[in-house]
Amino acid sequence: MDKRRLGKSDIEITPIGLGTWQFSKGKGLIGGFWKSLDDEAATAVVKAALDGGISWFDTAEIYGRGNSERCLAGALTALKVAPGSVRVATKWWPLLRTAGNIGRTIEKRLECLAPWPIDLYQIHQPFSLSSVRAQLDTMADLVEAGKVKAVGVSNFSAAAMEEAHKVLAKRGVPLVSNQVRISLLDRSAEEKGLLETARRLGVSLIAYSPLAQGILTGRFHDDPGTIAQVSRGRRMTSALGPETLARTRPLIEALRRIGDEHGATASQVALNWLVSFWGETVVAIPGASRPGQAKEAAGSMGFRLSPAELTSLDRLSREAR
Ligand SMILES: NC(=O)c1ccc[n+]([C@@H]2O[C@H](COP(=O)([O-])OP(=O)(O)OC[C@H]3O[C@@H](n4cnc5c(N)ncnc54)[C@H](OP(=O)(O)O)[C@@H]3O)[C@@H](O)[C@H]2O)c1
Repeated sequence: MDKRRLGKSDIEITPIGLGTWQFSKGKGLIGGFWKSLDDEAATAVVKAALDGGISWFDTAEIYGRGNSERCLAGALTALKVAPGSVRVATKWWPLLRTAGNIGRTIEKRLECLAPWPIDLYQIHQPFSLSSVRAQLDTMADLVEAGKVKAVGVSNFSAAAMEEAHKVLAKRGVPLVSNQVRISLLDRSAEEKGLLETARRLGVSLIAYSPLAQGILTGRFHDDPGTIAQVSRGRRMTSALGPETLARTRPLIEALRRIGDEHGATASQVALNWLVSFWGETVVAIPGASRPGQAKEAAGSMGFRLSPAELTSLDRLSREAR
């Protein structure tokens, strides 16, 4: 698969990037969601992603209060990756904060990621104490000051995304992305008009939890006993249980059947569908806790699904929800 432009920026990225919430090391508000990985394990994951051709990484302040950012920067340094040769996206955490906090914390973000620049700076949630206007104006200040290259949002509705786009446009800065939950098992972004709005505005949608936190790999269908080993938060967020497994089994079987035609796994077909079905609008950031998972994610860019396969998975996806 060819590289794509992130929104209307000049940032070129592979359709698949690597999500690094998994590098939180158990710390902070949502760090305990995943099993803790040490630096060596995280570096092996990053290496597998890079070896497979992945060209960008997504992190956030809230992932272990800077742990994920520091761990990612450390891995890229250990692997002798030249700053600027891969793209790095991070996010500001807005809860119980005002827009003024964006300017006050940017140096900390840059310090955690050093020597990597922030290619994409995203507002993690639409729940700050300040208006969308105030937040996006402050983000535009950061672009003007050369602190970040491009601006995105996350979990913004179609209306909030449109407003963010307008505020930035007045400052001559494009809104390049909205990071939202989308997968074969979650089409709410499409149902709520986000895809149509993103297309019209030239904004990329960055799909998070693109494997439905592992469900779309088929591993829990094969071994339901392993559900008990994952965190309660993950079981709840992804409704990971017998009912979901029963409802999604036909989809998993189809992913495997189609995968056999392409020498690919179920998860690779699920990711390929996600970044193909809506043209170039959707890119995805699967997370990985092992090198093999990152390698598999990168390998999802190595084949092309036929129009009939894309359509048949679309239908099965609707039936599986
Ligand atoms: N903006 C937001 O609000 C938001 C919200 C959620 C996530 N995100 C971002 O999106 C990224 C991805 O989302 P996510 O981590 O929630 O979900 P995901 O990418 O759907 O699932 C990742 C998990 O699935 C399992 N997995 C991945 N590849 C596998 C394979 N080949 N075989 C078997 N299992 C595999 C692993 O679980 P194990 O580790 O248990 O093996 C991995 O940690 C995050 O890292 C984060 O950067 C953003």
